[in-house]
Amino acid sequence: MSVHIPAGSDRPVTTATFRTRKAASQRIVMLTAYDASSARLVDAAGVDSILVGDSLGMTMLGYDSTLPVTMDDMVRATFAVARVTRHALVVADLPFMSYQASVEDALRNAGRLMAEGGAGAVKLEGGAEVAETVCRLVSAGIPVMGHVGLTPQSVNQLGGYRVQAKDTPAAERLLDDCRALQDAGAFAVVLECIPAELAALASAELDIPTIGIGAGAGCDGEVQVFHDLLGLGGDFTPRHAKRYAELGEQVRAAVSAYAADVRSGAFPGEEQTTHADLAVIDEVRARRTGDVRRMTGR
Ligand code: KIV
Repeated sequence: MSVHIPAGSDRPVTTATFRTRKAASQRIVMLTAYDASSARLVDAAGVDSILVGDSLGMTMLGYDSTLPVTMDDMVRATFAVARVTRHALVVADLPFMSYQASVEDALRNAGRLMAEGGAGAVKLEGGAEVAETVCRLVSAGIPVMGHVGLTPQSVNQLGGYRVQAKDTPAAERLLDDCRALQDAGAFAVVLECIPAELAALASAELDIPTIGIGAGAGCDGEVQVFHDLLGLGGDFTPRHAKRYAELGEQVRAAVSAYAADVRSGAFPGEEQTTHADLAVIDEVRARRTGDVRRMTGR
């Protein structure tokens, strides 16, 4: 895919903004988007950062986990989002198995998200075990956001989508993981589905901002999934999400009204119709009648 988009650094919100926001105790707002139309709306609404999450596997592609999402899926979605985003920092997820096997994989695939997709940063899941990878990406000029707690790419190991780090060893491990990501050069870390008090502790311990999802109000910022907030994800809403609109209902009602109008003949109406010069139609009809006579000999 060829790239004709402004570099991520042309946008006003950068990874440096994340640092200054934390220093000024101003919360960071992040929301997912996976295509140009939603990105345009989210960016115009003034969020600080758009996450092209691998949650697109579930929201856009109909999978029941993020595991089947490919690099090509992520590059295409990132490209669409980055093309229209003028303000927010675009962060793109590295999908399952695009960075775990080797640092070389991570560099090549993160490089694609930046160069082909136009992302301003990448996000990957894991703690101390990915610190070396984070360090190499950052050395290559690729800003990295970490992601700990409930890491959906490890759902099979975690035994489901459930709150993490509830006992003392797991809570300590999570804090150590956050510290390892910070030391490796990550500019921020997502804390997903962990107890609020632990998230607050991590936020106080770290110099880099924490971005919570299902982690209470004590984080330096919040990230949510577009479809969950807007009622586009069907009947299920995760406990950590709040529905700010029922767009699914509105879309269903609008499409049924359209279908009813087409079936009854009420649409398209006069307003949506363009009329011809009747002389043109008469002439076309006469010519075609002549043609048919010539062809059939009648
Ligand atoms: O893929 C995604 O949308 C995410 C958020 C849930 C943090 O990683």
